[in-house]
Amino acid sequence: MKRSIIIAVMCLLSLASCKPVKTITASVPAHEEDGVIVLETPAREPGQESALGMKCEPLDTVRIGFVGIGGRGTAAVQRYTYLDNVRVVALCDENPARVDACNEILANAGLPQAAGYVGSEAYKELCERDDIDLVYIAPDWLDHVPVALCAMNNGKHAANEVPGAMTIEDCWAIVNTSEKTRRHCMMLENCCYDFFEMAALNMAQQGVFGEVYHVEGAYIHFLAEDWGFSEPWRIDYNMAHRGDNYPTHGLGPIAQVLDIHRGDKFDYLVSMDTPSYNGKVAAKRYRDSDECLDGDHTISLIRTEKGKVVEVQHNVYAYRPYTRMFQLTGTEGFANKYPIEQISVKGISGHREVSKEVMDSLLNAYKFDFVMEIEDKAREVGGHGGMDFIMDYRLVYCLHNGLPLDQDVYDAAEWSCVQELSRISLENGSKPVKVPDFARGDWNVVKGFRYAFKD
Ligand SMILES: NC(=O)c1ccc[n+]([C@@H]2O[C@H](COP(=O)([O-])OP(=O)(O)OC[C@H]3O[C@@H](n4cnc5c(N)ncnc54)[C@H](O)[C@@H]3O)[C@@H](O)[C@H]2O)c1
Repeated sequence: MKRSIIIAVMCLLSLASCKPVKTITASVPAHEEDGVIVLETPAREPGQESALGMKCEPLDTVRIGFVGIGGRGTAAVQRYTYLDNVRVVALCDENPARVDACNEILANAGLPQAAGYVGSEAYKELCERDDIDLVYIAPDWLDHVPVALCAMNNGKHAANEVPGAMTIEDCWAIVNTSEKTRRHCMMLENCCYDFFEMAALNMAQQGVFGEVYHVEGAYIHFLAEDWGFSEPWRIDYNMAHRGDNYPTHGLGPIAQVLDIHRGDKFDYLVSMDTPSYNGKVAAKRYRDSDECLDGDHTISLIRTEKGKVVEVQHNVYAYRPYTRMFQLTGTEGFANKYPIEQISVKGISGHREVSKEVMDSLLNAYKFDFVMEIEDKAREVGGHGGMDFIMDYRLVYCLHNGLPLDQDVYDAAEWSCVQELSRISLENGSKPVKVPDFARGDWNVVKGFRYAFKD
């Protein structure tokens, strides 16, 4: 009797201290299973097949239409003037001055003028042209998916700026459309092509770090100060959306190290965030609003199917130095890019970091061959120190040679879906949320992430 009274009191106390969790709100049907939020996987339509390792017809010249040529799109047009066997066929923006400015870049490079399309729906006409192979998509976040779907449905490959999609529903939309149309949909995750990250990836693939079991990535970049002027759409989005709103720069390079959907997969995610402090200051300053749903700092932990742990962080409001973290811990070594580059290896330095000279020689020795070939030109052309140009070079190389792209549509979905997954976890008291298996069971078919090359 005494025992049952104690249990009843404990139950009442625990109920009283429990915060009620909100109903799950997700862009796709969702339910809870044993305390884990599960999002339903849509069935493939008849005739729709996996796009894993998808090869398409080789292209002698890659004919490109650019949609969204603001800061990022214009820089891409400039870089593409340095690539062989590509042609900029069309340029589209809501702002006609941007079309003119990009045509001036082409003229200065001695290249033919591109057809101009102006307006928020003008991309549809661009996608209907029969002389374009690739649509390069760099408008603000909410327009990435409509343009990518339109491109693929018109028989074009799509290259989508980051994030590739902002909701789980849209992640499935790009996956399903790529699978149905057999067109590539690559997210342009340029951080996968930075020099330290690529050398560390090669070292991980060669086993230098042993079994890599813990990885960290982040996007911590103080943007809030000048938002009202440069990217007004971004502050609007962050004010209206809680969660890690920009997860792919941090996740891309570490997902490649972990062979995500090439032998392992993200299993479930848990997120926590702080209140909005400086976000609210920016909201007041630029939008005269008292609300900013995005917490200043958001952290998500993802457990993989094989039990490895991924940590990804987002903060665009803090007075602290830029970092994407990029940290790998393995059974026999460690690599860290930010705030200082460090490598340690069991047989060389034990638990201490190797000297700068040894680190430089390791980074050099593990440089991929294709990086050695293109490095000088990439540093000269630039784009975040050269990594953007290496990404362009690889995309065009794979399209020329009919090879699978370095980043497929499943990468785009897996890295981008963390936005909505983190929001769902946060809104439900940091509950775990199952990460959708966008490869629909085939995550263990391809063995390891590898760049494709012609024979
Ligand atoms: N990978 C990177 O390192 C990196 C860096 C910066 C920005 N980005 C991404 O690039 C994208 C663009 O960012 P930005 O800084 O260039 O923004 P921006 O505001 O400078 O440019 C966006 C451009 O898109 C145009 N636009 C918007 N909707 C359009 C539509 N429906 N049709 C045609 N044009 C449209 C706008 O007029 C504008 O010129 C974002 O997705 C951002 O996340 C990536």
